Amino acid sequence: MTNAGSTVHAGHAASPLAPEWLQVPADLNALHEPMWAGSVDRNSAGALTVGGVDVQELKEQFGTPLFVMDEADFRARARAFKDSFDAAFADICGGVDVYYAGKSFLCTAVVKWVEEEGLRLDTASGGELAVAARAGIAGERVALHGNNKSDAEITRALDMGLGRIVVDSLDELVRVGDIARASGRKAKVMLRLTPGVHAHTHEFIATAHEDQKFGLSMAADTTDQAGLSAAEEAVAAASAHPGIELLGLHCHIGSQIFEPDGFALAAEKLLRFLAAMQDKYSITMPELDLGGGYGIAYTPVDTPRPAAEIAAAMAAVVRSTCAELAIKAPRISIEPGRAIVGSTTFTLYEVGTLKTVRVDATAPDDGDADNNVTYPRRYVSVDGGMSDNARPVLYDADYSAVLASRTSMAAPQLSRVVGKHCESGDIVVRDVYLPGDVAAGDLLAVPGTGAYCWALSSNYNYLARPGVVAVRDGSSRLIVRGETEEDLLNRDMGA
Ligand code: LLP
Repeated sequence: MTNAGSTVHAGHAASPLAPEWLQVPADLNALHEPMWAGSVDRNSAGALTVGGVDVQELKEQFGTPLFVMDEADFRARARAFKDSFDAAFADICGGVDVYYAGKSFLCTAVVKWVEEEGLRLDTASGGELAVAARAGIAGERVALHGNNKSDAEITRALDMGLGRIVVDSLDELVRVGDIARASGRKAKVMLRLTPGVHAHTHEFIATAHEDQKFGLSMAADTTDQAGLSAAEEAVAAASAHPGIELLGLHCHIGSQIFEPDGFALAAEKLLRFLAAMQDKYSITMPELDLGGGYGIAYTPVDTPRPAAEIAAAMAAVVRSTCAELAIKAPRISIEPGRAIVGSTTFTLYEVGTLKTVRVDATAPDDGDADNNVTYPRRYVSVDGGMSDNARPVLYDADYSAVLASRTSMAAPQLSRVVGKHCESGDIVVRDVYLPGDVAAGDLLAVPGTGAYCWALSSNYNYLARPGVVAVRDGSSRLIVRGETEEDLLNRDMGA
């Protein structure tokens, strides 16, 4: 990646308003590699390019805001997961089935890439199943999740011949079994368990602790029957139900997790439980799904692990636990979403209004209340916001940004990139150093927006949701078109 002029911004002091983790970059024009798709670079004129295409061209052709996805990078990340996990688990269970978590970003083009790269698809609703069906992926390669699947969704899953329905509760187990049985079928079921592993991530994206809505508890006494866990009751019920083929167990401990130990610990807990249940109920559960949740770099301080490293850590635990328990290892599957699509995409915005405020950096409790020194913070407004990236508002997520339409030698200025919504919390990038000469009409690129941004987008303030453009080998095409004013109005039934 371009590193031209790498010392131009060196030596500038950090703003007292900046969070501790945010360093003043030595070069504001440089691209911190872990945050960007593989083909992103700057051309000789200084403009950001992706797949050989200049962002200015993308803006002219498709407008802004725009999600810009590097197709080759998506395929490479998908393959990296498949190949690394296959290699690490080859001698344990003959490889791993990788289900791309469609909730992170889904459209028919992506389903096709996923299939072509040898992955499968994890869906979480009837709507996501509809995309899978439209893309023509074989039902056998699709999984369905959700803590409150409707009868219609369950029926659709059975009609599509889904490879697995991941059941989330005892209630649902009976419903799935009864619906399947009523039409003379057997539903292929996995049971989602909560192994009680605490994931170090935001509370709303941690999912394996007890006090939340997902999964069957593995803790004893979580049912009416003395001593029995909800997980065990579900195993017993599933193996006895004529409408159910119990494939095995599932867990997902949370999202945006960097350390592999949580995944490894969950794997060990589930394997011990699987072995105990196989023994007690004289059954075989041939599959174990360890979910997704692998973290990516949103800012320079995030240090994601390569897929091979995570795979090795998980394989070591699965190998040793199965040996200790003297069981045949189940076929392992995983469900990465963010780690495949997150870094493939940046959002391209156009800068509009700018203003600088002066802020007192004195902490309220530092005993120095009459220190009246103020520092500048520059608000850089862009033409999107919380409607195309809700993550800063929802999870206090940090992002980064660069000036994309050109390079600049201007001094770094602590900036806050904000959207155009009628909401003061409408922040896209809370803290970032941008060149002091950023002006209206400049383009900004925010990396790491491939996962849970378009997917979580809204029409707040009647903004049209942006399109998604895939760039590859010097050419670009819309894979999801942006909404028009017509789209915004066409569900309004009139007075
Ligand atoms: N499997 C299951 C059962 C899941 O619930 C999820 C994510 C995944 C796999 C994929 O997780 P990933 O590898 O993408 O982290 N909206 C939040 C994340 C919610 C995650 C929901 N489930 C965010 O923007 O951080």
